[in-house]
Amino acid sequence: MKYTNLGKSDLKVSRICMGCMGFGDSSNGQHSWTVDENTAREIIKAGLDKGINFFDTAVVYQGGTSEQYVGRALRNFAKREDYIIATKFTPRTPDEIANNITGQKHIENYLNKSLQNLGMEYVDLYIYHMWDYNTPIEDIMQGLNAVVKQGKVRYIGISNCFAWQLAKANNYAKNNGLAEFISVQGHYNLIHREEEREMIPYCKEENIALTPYSALASGRLSRKIGETTKRLEEDSYAKFKYDKTAEADNKIIERVEEIALKRGVSMTEVSLAWLLTKVTSPVVGATKLTHIEGAVKSVELELTQDEINYLEELYVPHALAGVMAQNKPQSKGENHVWIKNAKNVK
Ligand SMILES: NC(=O)c1ccc[n+]([C@@H]2O[C@H](COP(=O)([O-])OP(=O)(O)OC[C@H]3O[C@@H](n4cnc5c(N)ncnc54)[C@H](OP(=O)(O)O)[C@@H]3O)[C@@H](O)[C@H]2O)c1
Repeated sequence: MKYTNLGKSDLKVSRICMGCMGFGDSSNGQHSWTVDENTAREIIKAGLDKGINFFDTAVVYQGGTSEQYVGRALRNFAKREDYIIATKFTPRTPDEIANNITGQKHIENYLNKSLQNLGMEYVDLYIYHMWDYNTPIEDIMQGLNAVVKQGKVRYIGISNCFAWQLAKANNYAKNNGLAEFISVQGHYNLIHREEEREMIPYCKEENIALTPYSALASGRLSRKIGETTKRLEEDSYAKFKYDKTAEADNKIIERVEEIALKRGVSMTEVSLAWLLTKVTSPVVGATKLTHIEGAVKSVELELTQDEINYLEELYVPHALAGVMAQNKPQSKGENHVWIKNAKNVK
């Protein structure tokens, strides 16, 4: 495994971050395809053994059970200073808004819930899961700074935002001596490259770490077209993100397969090796023990410039998909799947 600094911070993270959204009680939350605690523990242990020290979860993943499984496993298998745990908080719910719970209070409440789920005294990276159009950014940044000051959070990151939003938030923080976002978790992979327009150049300029999610397009970049799995069949949110553009995307997936065959490696390795030429540490989901090996091996695979060009050549601009497409200023959040999920955060 290779390690690098997470942006401007002193956190030394593995070049692969383990995405833990696939761990959790499948009867309690958004996804029917998540794996139980024993399977999650095996995967986490295998990741640690192979040098992965960076783990990503969220309070809304499967009603908090992802955080609980991850917390118990990490506490059992590793020393606290040897891993970096990232978790996330969602926007204020309509109920909180109606009850005048401020952004600052919301952050404090959600963080306390995450710390309880994880069984930890602090998190290394606390991530603003998506822009909250109903809460002033000043309130959010003050709330995040407060939990950093209390020692419950070491650094803050952001996810699912536009570059202008990140610039606005960090400028406010800088001008007021508050903690700034050091990392961005956006939706970025070989078949969804919209982050290249503004976010990636901005982050390079500011030395902000890129830790993209759905690095394998929720499995599509790992297997031949036509091959299927429980997740590919059941993950309706991923279908919603990728089905509309499948025809154009499949041509790129075929090229991934072609290079994998030529190099004698897996498609996962090719897809992640490409992403590793662009970002700090992709967040890679694992639901089977065998998934770890492909992710870890990708760190050693060096693609030639010709291979990179070949993989990139067929991309056509995409409309935003998933959270970035749904989370809109005019929305009050009621219809959002993540607000529904946040309802069980008590
Ligand atoms: N910030 C956000 O809004 C946000 C949104 C989504 C995800 N995330 C984070 O990002 C993580 C990853 O997202 P994701 O699960 O959507 O995407 P992903 O990493 O693109 O896809 C993971 C899937 O790829 C397949 N896979 C992984 N390694 C493989 C291997 N070596 N060989 C074959 N197949 C392999 C598995 O599919 P099968 O299960 O089908 O085998 C696995 O479930 C999540 O766990 C979460 O931490 C964040």
